[in-house]
Amino acid sequence: MDKFLIQGGNTLEGEVRISGAKNAALPLLAAMILAETPMTLRNVPNLKDVNTLVKLIGGMGITISYAGDTVHSDASTLNNQFAPYELVKTMRASILVLGPLLARYGEAKVSLPGGCAIGSRPVDQHLKALEALGAQIEVENGYVNAKVDGRLKGAEVVFDMVTVGGTENILIAATLAEGITTIRNAAREPEITDLAHMLIKMGAKIEGLDTDTLVVTGVEKLQGCEYSVVADRIETGSYLAAAAMTGGRVKTTHTDPALLECVLEKFEEMGAEVTRGDDWIELDMMGKRPKAVSFRTLPHPDFPTDMQAQLMAVNAIGRGFATISETIFENRFMHVPELSRMGANIQVEGNDAVVTGVDKLSAAPVMATDLRASFSLVLAALAAEGETLIDRIYHIDRGYEDIEAKLQGLGAQIKRVSE
Ligand code: UD1
Repeated sequence: MDKFLIQGGNTLEGEVRISGAKNAALPLLAAMILAETPMTLRNVPNLKDVNTLVKLIGGMGITISYAGDTVHSDASTLNNQFAPYELVKTMRASILVLGPLLARYGEAKVSLPGGCAIGSRPVDQHLKALEALGAQIEVENGYVNAKVDGRLKGAEVVFDMVTVGGTENILIAATLAEGITTIRNAAREPEITDLAHMLIKMGAKIEGLDTDTLVVTGVEKLQGCEYSVVADRIETGSYLAAAAMTGGRVKTTHTDPALLECVLEKFEEMGAEVTRGDDWIELDMMGKRPKAVSFRTLPHPDFPTDMQAQLMAVNAIGRGFATISETIFENRFMHVPELSRMGANIQVEGNDAVVTGVDKLSAAPVMATDLRASFSLVLAALAAEGETLIDRIYHIDRGYEDIEAKLQGLGAQIKRVSE
C-alpha cells in the first residue's frame, strides 16, 4: 500500500495549477447518460473516483473513452441500466446514475452505497424526490430497483435537508420529466451550478441557478455538447492552506476566487494577504504564524465541510485558540487523533472541536482516514519537525490530482513509497 514520506520545515512558494473539480466532474459524467448524441467533457481531473464512474458508465454499454483531461462519450450504445455493488461500494457518488437512467430509460437497478467513514450518509432524500416525480422504487437485497411507466412527471420536491447529491440527482432527472419540477431547499454549491450550465447547453430548461429554488421545465430530448469542468475550489483552498501552514506564498491558477470567498475570508482573518485575480488567487503568509480562527461548516455559500480538516490543521499551529463546529456530517473529526499524535492540542465534544495552537508539531507515523482528512495530515507534516509517514493515502488519490508533483513544485519534500 502506498504511503507518503514528508520531510517538514520547508516554506512553500510558487504557482500551482488547479484541476477540474472532482465533485463537479462526477455529476457531469452521470448527466452524459442523457445525451442522444456524442459529447465531450474537458478539464476532467485524473482521479480514482472519476475512473470508477467511467467504468460504471462503460459497464452499461455506453461508449466512453478517458484520456488526458478529456472524456468522450456516446450514450446511444447503452444496453443495460445496472450499477453493481462492486463498483458502487467504492464510491458513494455512483448513486448519481440513478436519476439519469430512470429519466431516459424508465428503469434502473443501482446498488445502495455502503457505509462511509464520515457518517451514515443515507440516500433517502434522493429516493423520496424521485418518487415525487412518479418513480416506483423498491429497495431489495441491497439494490434500488426503480422504474416509471412512460416519462417521469414534473412535481414539487422539497428536501428535508440541503443535499448536494440529492439536488444533482433530481436536477438531472427533472430535465427529461414531463412538465415542471420545482426543487425547494436545493443545494447551491458551485458544482450544482456547473451541472445546470452543462444541462442547459444540452438543451435543458432550468431557472433559479445559484438559488435554493431550481425550476426545471422538462424537455423530450437532450443532445450532446462540449463542456469544461469548473475549477476545484477545495483543491484551491487546500493549496492555499499549505501556504498558510508554512508561512509561505502560493499562487493558485486556473481557478476562480468567487468559488470560495468564505474560505478566503478565513485566511485573511488568520493574517494572510490574499490577492484575487480573474482566474487566480495568491495567498502570502509573509513568514508569519497564522492566528487561530473559529468557523462552523454549513451548506454553500457558507464554510464548506470539505475544508474543515485542512483549516483545523492550520489552526493547530495557530496563535490562540479556535472553535470548529461540524454541522454537515456526524463523524468528520477522524483526523483529530492523528493530528494529536503529531502534537496538536484539540479537544472534541460532540460536533465541536476546540483547537489550541501549539508552537510546533512533530513528525509521527499517521493514517489517512478519508479524502480531506488526508490533506490535513499532509499539511501537518509539511510544518512538522522531522519526517512523517502517512499511511493509507489511497484516500488522497481519490480526490487530489498529481499531489506529489504539485507539492514538489512548491518546494515540499514529499515522496511516495510503496511497501
Ligand atoms: C457532497 C460532496 C462531498 C461534500 C458534501 C457536503 C460530492 C461527490 N461529494 O456529498 O464532498 O462533503 O456534498 O458538501 O459532491 N443526507 C441524508 N439523506 C440523503 C442525502 C444526504 O440524510 O438522502 C445527509 C448526509 O448524511 C449529510 C448531509 O445530508 O449529513 C449532506 O449530504 P450531501 O450534501 O448529500 O452530501 P453528498 O452529496 O453525499
